[in-house]
Amino acid sequence: MRVSDPLVAAARAARRHAVAPYSRFKVGAALETADGRVITGCNVENASYGLTICAERVAMFTALAAGHRRFRRIAIVADTMAPTPPCGACRQILWEFGGDLEVILANLRRESGRHQLSELLPLPFDKRNL
Ligand code: THU
Repeated sequence: MRVSDPLVAAARAARRHAVAPYSRFKVGAALETADGRVITGCNVENASYGLTICAERVAMFTALAAGHRRFRRIAIVADTMAPTPPCGACRQILWEFGGDLEVILANLRRESGRHQLSELLPLPFDKRNL
């Protein structure tokens, strides 16, 4: 059996910090920079539900705030049988700052898919359209 990807392990660990008292749907994300560093995020919910932020965006904004600008991969983990793909808002943010990232989906036990972000967000709107 293949040894688990350390990026997936980092996303599983980040998921433990999720603040999800309303949905109880905990998500972790781990973003790998071009120079091999790993920046993590978890979802953070709010009583004003629309202010909730997904794990993927927390990871990306944390990485940007730390000065990182180039990225290779992101792993996303939830405790579900079916893969938990990034929502539309996160796809747009990941595309803006990460470009055609590899997106690794996993649950607590196994990987459930690897995709390029360009497959998940075909025909993206970005600075080339402005
Ligand atoms: N969520 C994420 O953090 N990432 C995803 O890819 C899907 C959804 C969060 C948002 C909210 O806190 C909870 O999962 C249920 O939608």
